Amino acid sequence: MLKVFRNYSLHKHNTFRIKVSAKFYAAPETLHELIEILQNHNKPEQKLLILGEGSNILLTSNFQGLVIRPDIRGIEILDKTVDYVLVKTGAGENWDDFVVYCINNGFVGVENLSWIPGSVGACPVQNIGAYGAEVKNVIDSVTGIMTDSLKQITFNRDECDFRYRDSVFKRELKGKFIITSVVFKLCRNPVFNTGYGKLQDEFTGNKKTDLQSMRHAVIQIRKNKLPDPDKFGSAGSFFKNPVINKTKLKLLKSDYPRIPAYPANQREVKVAAGWLIEKAGWAGKRTGDAGVYNKQALILLNYGSATGQQIKELAERIIISVNKKFGIDLQTEVNII
Ligand code: FAD
Ligand code: EPU
Repeated sequence: MLKVFRNYSLHKHNTFRIKVSAKFYAAPETLHELIEILQNHNKPEQKLLILGEGSNILLTSNFQGLVIRPDIRGIEILDKTVDYVLVKTGAGENWDDFVVYCINNGFVGVENLSWIPGSVGACPVQNIGAYGAEVKNVIDSVTGIMTDSLKQITFNRDECDFRYRDSVFKRELKGKFIITSVVFKLCRNPVFNTGYGKLQDEFTGNKKTDLQSMRHAVIQIRKNKLPDPDKFGSAGSFFKNPVINKTKLKLLKSDYPRIPAYPANQREVKVAAGWLIEKAGWAGKRTGDAGVYNKQALILLNYGSATGQQIKELAERIIISVNKKFGIDLQTEVNII
């Protein structure tokens, strides 16, 4: 019988390093164990939190309910042709270990997403992305279980309704569907995506492009940009880059000609939230142990003993200040619990 822990510390289960606990905690390693937990311990009147590696959540208080950490492992090749391979991966696998597995086997498509923290099970939730790639481009299907009916469902890529840092799992199915495995369709031909500004710089001239050098370049860029996880708690970008219409951008440009913006679709552009926050004067600011990273203002930091509430309050002050200066509403990327 799977062990359900009581008053379990979540300190080591969230990358913000917030010191809170869960009333109940279980980490099922098989579908059978997951069903057992849902049948015996998930009650309609009790709160439920599905937890991966806690790298995109902010816990603001002790969780007075059940935390389920699906720890179902395994990597299995379902099909292989000369052009592509279908790989089924358990939700509990670490995302970057999976990237390394793909690189070692010559499977192309996830190398730009190297060094993103978290689990495979969470990667479809916010459609993880970096350096010109999004995981939706390599997802074939997502399988999981409904927390109430225990029905097992597979969603194909279209049904996941992937968007920028968003999917059906972060909206309609939030907290109602536990992802147990993901099937990836990866390419077997060496076609690389080096279009993203900083990545392009790494491969100018005759520098060899292969899976290993792509991963190496991405990791170097990330090391220079992101805070050292051993020193500071964070959850990566705290806010999404806002999408505004072109007319709004034109107006903003008359006051701020250097505002960084990239096409989102025909009518809209994506603006760099880090730039907006920096220009609103927040880079490097700190109140107690809650602060804004000086090298990348989109990242909020826990310097040691900040509470989730203090980080949340800092985020709220940033939202108000950016709105006042630019008339833009920042949306949080991190899941606030
Ligand atoms: P958690 O934080 O545990 O959970 C995130 C959400 O997914 C929660 O709502 C949770 O309920 C839900 N969830 C988790 N597992 C499941 C499951 N099996 N079934 C259903 N729902 C589930 N993200 C990017 O996109 N690009 C980046 O470049 C990037 N860089 C980062 C850098 C740093 C330093 C950090 C700390 C984070 C970064 N992130 C980035 C955010 C984070 O890595 C991703 O969002 C990651 O996918 C979260 O995985 P997790 O397992 O930690 O999820
Ligand atoms: N910028 C500033 N000041 C800052 C931060 C950024 O001026 O403090 C400017 C940069 O100079 C650059 C632009 O903003 O011109 C974009 O910056 P960067 O390349 O660092 O990317 P980002 O838009 O800030 C996004 C993702 C990251 C992802 C990187 C690389 C979001 C919310 N964030 O950041 O994802 O790793 O691009 O692709 O889309 C995450 O989601 O947690 C995350 C880290």
